[in-house]
Amino acid sequence: MAGTGVFADILDGDAFKYYSDGEWKKSSSGKSVAIVNPTTRKTQYKVQACTQEEVNKVMEIAKTAQKSWAKTPLWKRAELLHKAAAILKEHKAPIAEALVKEIAKPAKDAVTEVVRSGDLISYCAEEGVRILGEGKFLVSDSFPGNERTKYCLTSKIPLGVVLAIPPFNYPVNLAVSKIAPALIAGNSLVLKPPTQGAVSCLHMVHCFHLAGFPKGLISCVTGKGSEIGDFLTMHPGVNCISFTGGDTGIAISKKAGMIPLQMELGGKDACIVLEDADLDLVAANIIKGGFSYSGQRCTAVKVVLVMESVADALVEKVKARVAKLTVGPPEDDSDITPVVSESSANFIEGLVKDAKEKGATFCQPYRREGNLIWPLLLDHVRPDMRIAWEEPFGPVLPVIRISSVEEGIHHCNASNFGLQGCVFTRDINKAILIGDAMETGTVQINSAPARGPDHFPFQGIKDSGIGSQGITNSINMMTKIKSTVINLPAPTYTMG
Ligand code: G3H
Repeated sequence: MAGTGVFADILDGDAFKYYSDGEWKKSSSGKSVAIVNPTTRKTQYKVQACTQEEVNKVMEIAKTAQKSWAKTPLWKRAELLHKAAAILKEHKAPIAEALVKEIAKPAKDAVTEVVRSGDLISYCAEEGVRILGEGKFLVSDSFPGNERTKYCLTSKIPLGVVLAIPPFNYPVNLAVSKIAPALIAGNSLVLKPPTQGAVSCLHMVHCFHLAGFPKGLISCVTGKGSEIGDFLTMHPGVNCISFTGGDTGIAISKKAGMIPLQMELGGKDACIVLEDADLDLVAANIIKGGFSYSGQRCTAVKVVLVMESVADALVEKVKARVAKLTVGPPEDDSDITPVVSESSANFIEGLVKDAKEKGATFCQPYRREGNLIWPLLLDHVRPDMRIAWEEPFGPVLPVIRISSVEEGIHHCNASNFGLQGCVFTRDINKAILIGDAMETGTVQINSAPARGPDHFPFQGIKDSGIGSQGITNSINMMTKIKSTVINLPAPTYTMG
């Protein structure tokens, strides 16, 4: 159970503590923030409402801790990360339980998220040892006008304090995808969890605590965005921000100072289906891509663009599979669970109503109880409907029938987003040509969009973000290059 056993230290009465200077603390504000369970719509947990003074303290400590951490041998950093990964996996049950209660993640998926996170931490430790263990050696005589009188040695050094802000839908996995690269590269880390997902994050942070990381190297502050959000992202002590979430990321980018940013924002991932596609494969991927975690993934299939000649057949196949999806509470491991909040459900409903008014065909009746929305496929969606462009972040998927591949590519590229997309065809040449024409960070051929495996590069263009993630890219992004140039008194040529 959350907050018990080895996690007893992180709970005080009915409120979870925040983590600073290697200790679990209560905020001096005396206030807490309620976390509402999406299923029961009642307060499930409470976390500390940290103050700006507490943020200042955390930043100060993080700066000091980073200086000694940067002097810790790389293999020791990796060793501690491996330890944290093992502890996290060992305690997957209470963390998964928190994911079920605060973000309504289906029970099995919640366990998968924790295990995947442990694997990510271990892989990151290994990758860090490999890529940070080597640098570059350059000689000067490759540039015109130079003799071989200069040797340049480059290595990767840490940035300082990394601020990590993960989203509600993968509070553990998208937190460790920032924490592990930051730490292996010699940075310290300040984590600001999403409100829903905060308790899972606090448990995960305790696993790092139990692994024995130095005091102050990792901190986790919880609280209201209005009180500490901008204060954190604009804090002069922050040397890098890694954020995953919605368009708040655009505002953060505009306000942040001259520091490296890694932003993964929304997506409106298009699924282009050609006449020769394997329609059973497409239908299976539309279900997985569009409806897993009730469509609350930035990489979810968010619009199907299907050639008119195969549209009826595809819609029938998807409808048949939608009918088999189970709908209910996450504890029952239902396929479709309540969306994260009432405001989110209301937003989704607004998109559905707009599509109805404008004449979309409902393949299932629209049904909602509280935050639970039954899976819905909307056929004959047209570009004048909001759902053709906006991301519902819910189990509602529009189908647009297209009469040419160009029309599909045009719709995909007219979006403000450019995260991922996918194309289904048996003709690999066409797939490559279409994929190259799609303005997205990644194109999947004959499969639904997905971020993983976690070592693959992951990036969006346009409003979908800046920078590239994936383990290797994140480690590189959280470092900078340091050069040392050895100036020789005379040109020197090996064995010359
Ligand atoms: O929601 C955004 C995530 O980065 C998507 O990750 O493709 O593993 O579901 P996923």
